[in-house]
Amino acid sequence: MSDVIATLSPEEISEIEHEIALIPRRDGAAIDALLIVQKHRGWVSDESLRAIARLLEMSAEELDGIATFYNLIFRKPVGEQVILLCDSVSCWLRGCEQVKARLSERLGIGYGETTADGRYTLLPVPCLGACDRAPVMMVGDELHTHLDETDLSVLSPEGAAS
Ligand code: FES
Repeated sequence: MSDVIATLSPEEISEIEHEIALIPRRDGAAIDALLIVQKHRGWVSDESLRAIARLLEMSAEELDGIATFYNLIFRKPVGEQVILLCDSVSCWLRGCEQVKARLSERLGIGYGETTADGRYTLLPVPCLGACDRAPVMMVGDELHTHLDETDLSVLSPEGAAS
């Protein structure tokens, strides 16, 4: 357990233990535990993942499978804000490709990339559950709907390439 203590902060361990206490099996807190560490660090490194797995009494491979499947867990460093652009069918039909093109042009990045100033990372995501308001994206914790590629004022001017 010393590797867990060496890797995770007391706050992270305490928050994860709180989640574990709410459910019958330790490994049932996998996603919550990953999200807790991501909240503190911005992403989940291999070292963090191994420590979380040990705390949850499951294998790192099993936890990595969950982290990989759940696309809101970031396994690589990301920018200060992550832009999650929905590319599922309703958003696709309503122009998410044009929004993506304009975002890429304005920020100078493609999917999976981070701006040079470290402010934004752009990622595609499957349906965000707001299909009736397509196209949609999340910027940080905020959902933005009815996107128009000609108006991306949601991005602060200094965060954009222009
Ligand atoms: Fe984009 Fe559902 S298809 S929110």
